[in-house]
Amino acid sequence: MRDANPQPVYLSEYQPPAFEVENLELDFDLAAATTEVTTRMAVRRNPQAAEPGAPLRLYGDGVELVSLTVDGAEPGEGMLEEDADGLLLHGLPEAARLEIVSRCHPEQNTALEGLYASSGNLCTQCEPEGFRRITFFPDRPDVLTTYRVRLEADRAQYPVLLANGNRVEAGELDGGRHYAVWEDPFPKPSYLFALVAGDLACQRDTFTTMSGREVALELYVEAHNADRCDHALASLKRAMRYDEEAFGREYDLDVYMIVAVDDFNMGAMENKGLNLFNAKFVLASPDTATDDDFVAIESVIAHEYFHNWSGNRVTCRDWFQLSLKEGLTVFRDQEFTTDCTLFGVKRIDDVSLLRAHQFPEDAGPLAHPVRPDHYAEINNFYTLTVYEKGAELIRMLRTLIGGETFRRGLDVYFERFDGQAVTTDDFVAVMAEVSGRDLTAFKRWYTQAGTPHVTAATAQDGSTGEFRISLGQYTPPTPGQEHKEPVVIPVRVAMLDADGRRIRGRLEGGPEQDEWVLELDRSERSFHFDELSATPQAVSWLRGFSAPVILEANQSATTLAHLLAHDDDAFSRWEAAQTLMRRAIRARIEDDAADPVLEAEIQHALAALLEDPAIEPVLLATILQLPPPRELAELFDCVDPVRLRAERDALEARLYAPLADRLRDRQPKLDDIDNGAFTADAMGQRRLRNRLLALRVAAGDESAVPEVLEQYRKARSQTMRMGALNAINDLNHEARGLLLADFERRYHDDPLVLDKYFGLQAASQVPGGFDRLEYLLQHPGFRWSNPNRVRAVLGPFMARNERHFHQADGEGYHRIAGFVEKLDRMNPQTAARLVQPLTRWRKVDPARGEQMRAELERLAALEISRDLRDVIERALADA
Ligand code: BES
Ligand code: ZN
Repeated sequence: MRDANPQPVYLSEYQPPAFEVENLELDFDLAAATTEVTTRMAVRRNPQAAEPGAPLRLYGDGVELVSLTVDGAEPGEGMLEEDADGLLLHGLPEAARLEIVSRCHPEQNTALEGLYASSGNLCTQCEPEGFRRITFFPDRPDVLTTYRVRLEADRAQYPVLLANGNRVEAGELDGGRHYAVWEDPFPKPSYLFALVAGDLACQRDTFTTMSGREVALELYVEAHNADRCDHALASLKRAMRYDEEAFGREYDLDVYMIVAVDDFNMGAMENKGLNLFNAKFVLASPDTATDDDFVAIESVIAHEYFHNWSGNRVTCRDWFQLSLKEGLTVFRDQEFTTDCTLFGVKRIDDVSLLRAHQFPEDAGPLAHPVRPDHYAEINNFYTLTVYEKGAELIRMLRTLIGGETFRRGLDVYFERFDGQAVTTDDFVAVMAEVSGRDLTAFKRWYTQAGTPHVTAATAQDGSTGEFRISLGQYTPPTPGQEHKEPVVIPVRVAMLDADGRRIRGRLEGGPEQDEWVLELDRSERSFHFDELSATPQAVSWLRGFSAPVILEANQSATTLAHLLAHDDDAFSRWEAAQTLMRRAIRARIEDDAADPVLEAEIQHALAALLEDPAIEPVLLATILQLPPPRELAELFDCVDPVRLRAERDALEARLYAPLADRLRDRQPKLDDIDNGAFTADAMGQRRLRNRLLALRVAAGDESAVPEVLEQYRKARSQTMRMGALNAINDLNHEARGLLLADFERRYHDDPLVLDKYFGLQAASQVPGGFDRLEYLLQHPGFRWSNPNRVRAVLGPFMARNERHFHQADGEGYHRIAGFVEKLDRMNPQTAARLVQPLTRWRKVDPARGEQMRAELERLAALEISRDLRDVIERALADA
């Protein structure tokens, strides 16, 4: 079994594999209790290997070895060594054929890595190191080979037998058994292997690729979910078309299969030709899924599909390179959702996510670079930094070298490295080559953790008409990285005149333009503009959020209000409001007093916005929302989270109470918008109605409560039903209890919708949070073995229920630590994620911080998994 206290793995110690695998045959004799696997492979010494006589490493984790032969014979004396990581085969010839028989136990597998059982079906999850729980193999991403997989199982229990690639054979066997043989012609690393055996209904469709090939699309779900597949299939077809049109990438196999499973640690997995999905990211109908769910499903389907090129055809050399595939694929799915579904507001949603989750990670004890240089447990590096910041780096590269050059670079990258396992350096080298730019300094973004702070100032020389922008940068230290170098930061700017129009001018004698990308590539830099067409009234900084930094521009409230009213960049317009609101909160917390002048200015600006007939509903809805507490906490070294939440809610009430009538007047009518249409316009209207209703309740407008009840009762869609519930979820009013009880009755046997009920109850600030928590954990619909259920309860409790999670006596921390301890025995990967809110002990007031730390210490003293230990030790090392 694997070591609970392993040595960290270092990037600097990377060695090419000693052996290549020329081909692989896997025979599965499938059964839930015990599955027997026969693994046959041809291996050959790798000419690239460092040591000529090195042994062959076959990783194995909890797999029972039944037999092993080399070229048909038992291994000789001293050839076979077993250790904590699996097997070592010494003294192999240049080339050899291995045959290994081994066993594993799917039914007992609660970690959901390797081969496991879910709702009576068998399925696999191999990324990053799950294949070694199925059989002994050189389970590392730089060992690629072709797979021929034979599955055999009981026909009645497992009528459907799937694996990667194309089905080349199938048939009946004696004793009610049957088999299928699958071949995947594309060499792949073992983390992309998948199989499914189960009793599943198949929804079919087809897609004709740009070169005219017909691809069969198959979506497998439990029979009772067959009517919730349309959106996923439509999303898949849109993603396939988009990858052709926007990136020139065509699908390569004759079939593309997606299987929905109930028990899944992550969102979904891009196994070649056979994606496995958390059912939550497949199943949708307007009655059961909200607009946000529809968007999330579309984007996860697209993400996993896009991996077929960015991840599968071109894969990672080692797991330090994870962002090579994940950062690039997140960038690609963000582009897709922007162009096809959400347009301007997508960028705002992504920036919100980055700020509320990645910035805190980058400022906390678990901070690490986009390309880490060591890890103790790779499962813990599927982080917002690798994913979301990784995507920001790709976006910055595109901004720096230009869209067309970037597209050419991607073509070169996919062509040159097709079928190979490569590094982020290889990726950046291609972009440097096609652009002719030296990107050495840019690469610091990959190796340096922490969020840079950028200071921005302007100066105007009245006599010469010259306008100057001065930028500076500074990145605070992160664990293990005291000293930081400057990075290359593209700052996109424009200037607005008194009427809110863009000003034209020249940057350092360059061409006349009305928008510029300033490259801040040192600690400080000035940029001179002349021949401006008007006097700048406001600078629109960091347009489109052109770099993942914290901007400090010290703009006056008047300037910000001008940007809020006129900026034509949706992000910057939203950002102006966010900056104003952040400032008001900061005043309240730091000076312990409201700033009435500032608040009046904000209110005035918001009132004007509510009267603006031109603003898009979705943008209006998004701008009106105050920054979330998670993000506000980053404004302070440490802060009492209960107070912060209370101050935020109080500010919301002060700002919006006098605007209640305008909020009501701006609400789209329920009947006009509750039509289940998956269009940007319809979703924008619904977002606006739900936001305005929630703001009215938050502002204490009592006339809103009956409207909430009416909306809930009349709603035809889950979006409007959840809109009503969200609006009153923090209100201690009998209406809340009535609606929630109705919701629970209505959906008690629909697990995905019941999760929404769990989330509402767990997040509510209404007193009695611990009783509700206990009630949920005892609920017949709750199961500790299902990650969706566990996350649905504990996630919102920690993320949004400040009053209870951060209760001053430490009860919240104590309960969570207990749950983490329990969960860790079943599912370490999920436990190591759920513990993370406790690691931010430095960011809360010292009394609470001590209690959080004490819970971590208590867990650290127990026998816990390596996943959990890795997280806790890094959090405690920060002392
Ligand atoms: N490759 C990952 C899935 C994965 C991650 C498997 C970690 C095992 C360990 C997949 O492509 C992915 O990134 N999925 C995301 C969703 C995506 C839309 C960002 C996920 O599962 O959260
Ligand atoms: Zn991914």
